Amino acid sequence: MAMKLLVLPGDGVGPEVTAQAVRVLEWFAAHRGIPMDITERGFGLVNWQRHGTMMPDETWARITAADAILFGATGSLDQQGVVPPEERRKGSLLRMRKALDLYANLRPVRVPDALLDASPLKPRVVRGTDYVILRELTAGTYFGEPRGVSVLEDGTRRGVNTHRYDEGEIIRAVRFACRLAMGRRRHVTSVDKANVMEAGALWREVAARVARDEFPEVTLEPMLADNCALQLTRAPTRFDVIVTDNLFGDLLSDAGGAALGSLGMLPSASLNDRGQALYEPVHGSAPDIAGKGIANPLGAILSAALLLRWSAKRPEEAALLERAVDAALAAGARTADIAAPGEAALSTAGIGDAVLDALQREVQLPA
Ligand code: NAI
Ligand code: MG
Repeated sequence: MAMKLLVLPGDGVGPEVTAQAVRVLEWFAAHRGIPMDITERGFGLVNWQRHGTMMPDETWARITAADAILFGATGSLDQQGVVPPEERRKGSLLRMRKALDLYANLRPVRVPDALLDASPLKPRVVRGTDYVILRELTAGTYFGEPRGVSVLEDGTRRGVNTHRYDEGEIIRAVRFACRLAMGRRRHVTSVDKANVMEAGALWREVAARVARDEFPEVTLEPMLADNCALQLTRAPTRFDVIVTDNLFGDLLSDAGGAALGSLGMLPSASLNDRGQALYEPVHGSAPDIAGKGIANPLGAILSAALLLRWSAKRPEEAALLERAVDAALAAGARTADIAAPGEAALSTAGIGDAVLDALQREVQLPA
């Protein structure tokens, strides 16, 4: 049966980068026997401006029925104030993650040799970096109750958010990380603040138990979140799979992105246990460069590779796409964000062309 793929390009550079990812997926549908039923729908602030709603009901119905969603980006700082809060909630990415129970957010960070010069880190530190952060995505600080801002007796205000994790939420995240590590180098770093947070101590205890009882072949290393932030830039090659909560995962995955020199390179996948998934580049709508045709589409294209691996269940095709991206980079294909000073930069569509050319060459190589 054809995979039901819903494309939500959204705002800013979202439509520019998802267009290139869709071209690549259409190539796989046409040439590699991966049947896909691709639908595109309006969503986000652009949709609100044009049609008065960030999230049309019809789009929402398609979101809940899709096998896979390819998401671009949403938001722009200068427009957020004008959208009513109710409309913003309807159109929020948090609502999608929660409704679909997309608890496992995978953010792979891999530095191809061709990009060693684009990294702000020294080549000897960053060469060979290849790890995945599994960020728990449906609980913790961004969802915990009570939350809000209240006025105290003296008239000043108090802001409250609650960091809360149930044991079951920790167990399923750590299980996912350990299963992932079994197909990799069998090393999981579990990140928390067990030294100062009760919920962190629980996280640490439960993670150790899951790894010991269910995954005897996996080495589980506990690490404090502040130390992890340091190690990600000091020694990124020591990591294989990192599992952590929603808040730390948000921060650490951006810190990890430093290894690549640009947010535009980073893909992500958010998965549930029912076989549904949302794929998106880690970057936002990049209003500073939107509409110029210069955004880097590789985060979106590498998200399509994750889609081939996790939704189409065709890991060899995912690897083919990742090889093609490496080959295009090795041949010098660069957008401005990863080009060296003075180096010629391609447009967003130019990178799409380069990846499609590389795919064509890869499949013509003798096996
Ligand atoms: P951003 O990720 O949009 O941009 C940060 C910097 O990275 C900018 O200098 C931008 O030009 C650059 N950049 C981002 N993507 C790029 C690409 N594909 N190629 C080349 N350069 C790229 O983050 P920022 O500026 O903090 O937020 C802008 C808007 O995006 C805000 O409204 C924010 O709320 C929203 N946002 C949305 C996300 C999502 O949809 N998942 C995630 C992060 C931010
Ligand atoms: Mg973030």
